[in-house]
Amino acid sequence: MKNILITGGAGFIGSNFVRHLLRLAPDLNLVTLDALTYAGSLENLRGLPDEARHTFVQGDICDAALVERILREHQVDTIVHFAAESHVDRSILGPAPFVQTNIVGTFTLLEAARQAWDGKFEGKRFHHVSTDEVFGSLGPGDPAFEETTPYEPRSPYSASKASSDHLVRAYFHTYGLPVTLTNCSNNYGPYQFPEKLIPLMILNALAGKPLPVYGDGKQVRDWLYVEDHCEAIRLVLERGRAGETYNVGGGNQPHNIDVVTELCVLLDELRPGPGPYAGLIIHVPDRPGHDRRYAMNIGRIQSELGWSPRHDLKRGLRATVRWYLENEAWVRAVSAQNDYQAWMDKNYTKRGAK
Ligand code: NAD
Ligand code: DAU
Repeated sequence: MKNILITGGAGFIGSNFVRHLLRLAPDLNLVTLDALTYAGSLENLRGLPDEARHTFVQGDICDAALVERILREHQVDTIVHFAAESHVDRSILGPAPFVQTNIVGTFTLLEAARQAWDGKFEGKRFHHVSTDEVFGSLGPGDPAFEETTPYEPRSPYSASKASSDHLVRAYFHTYGLPVTLTNCSNNYGPYQFPEKLIPLMILNALAGKPLPVYGDGKQVRDWLYVEDHCEAIRLVLERGRAGETYNVGGGNQPHNIDVVTELCVLLDELRPGPGPYAGLIIHVPDRPGHDRRYAMNIGRIQSELGWSPRHDLKRGLRATVRWYLENEAWVRAVSAQNDYQAWMDKNYTKRGAK
């Protein structure tokens, strides 16, 4: 690995990964390709360590000519593909961009890599960042997802990610393109756009707004601190086997309502309000087709690569709440940008949470 293309590097996980590599891999040059959709922001890439090793290109992963030019000009040997439309609720209200970016965009990158590397695959790697949502929804007693669990996506978002995973594996089997995949659970931590559960609840609470819990709040997610995810991807790049998939998860199983309540308790301690923040919690109409439970079996990455999550949920949530409290300028800039307020109105007014 010398020259790495990071797609979606101005988004939440991508920007954490750019920081992670600049800190821990001193010999690498990075190029970020990001369209700067509503979810991407140059604010996420401010104050990078060792900035001279990072180049930012604004552009669309569906633009084949641009992608091919970047691969050649920067002599890219490794692609880490994060760019995606990533929010399930948005995929329900408007699925078209999910098909375009997540499926057509992934195809465009695969094809560009195949052309640019032209059969000389030694030392090359295409890493695809995917999700546990491709496996569908678990019942309370079901065993955790394994890498071999059949796909059963249930939202336009997860269906588009599942399609992209299939394309990535097809390029391995058909053309020998050296791919790896990680399917991971819900990330949280610094720089997450405040449409997702944890930052949304923190910011709504601080603004004295309702905390809209979908349905009964008894859905279960497996929360992964973003820095742990970055470490897992780096290890897969360094030592993962081509053609292989690795599940990545945080090893916890709280109900959504417990996560929201814990955030309220942390805020009561770190930024006390006029009353307990939990008083702002309301239950609102559920997400259509809402997956009930996810859980990840992470045995493969633990035994093959020695990776385990370092942050337990309690410690990770505290670090996350602190980060949002200490980064008011970022919060202001990101929530003022593009269509954030329009999205909040669109998704929450009809639920009675505006
Ligand atoms: P995000 O929405 O925060 O960031 C996505 C980034 O991709 C943004 O910077 C956006 O500008 C960019 N982008 C979108 N469309 C693009 C296009 N056509 N061309 C170029 N750039 C484009 O997403 P995230 O939460 O950081 O997720 C990153 C990846 O990880 C995604 O592939 C997602 O499916 C996957 N994933 C996320 C989670 C999670 O909990 N956040 C969990 C599992 C997997
Ligand atoms: O599991 C991995 C996936 O995690 C990723 O592939 C997705 O990109 C990422 O967005 C995330 O999907 P979720 O739908 O699980 O995340 P979200 O933060 O939107 O919701 C987490 C849970 O909280 C889910 O059960 C829905 C619920 N929720 C969410 C919001 C935004 C609420 O109850 N209220 C809300 O306002």
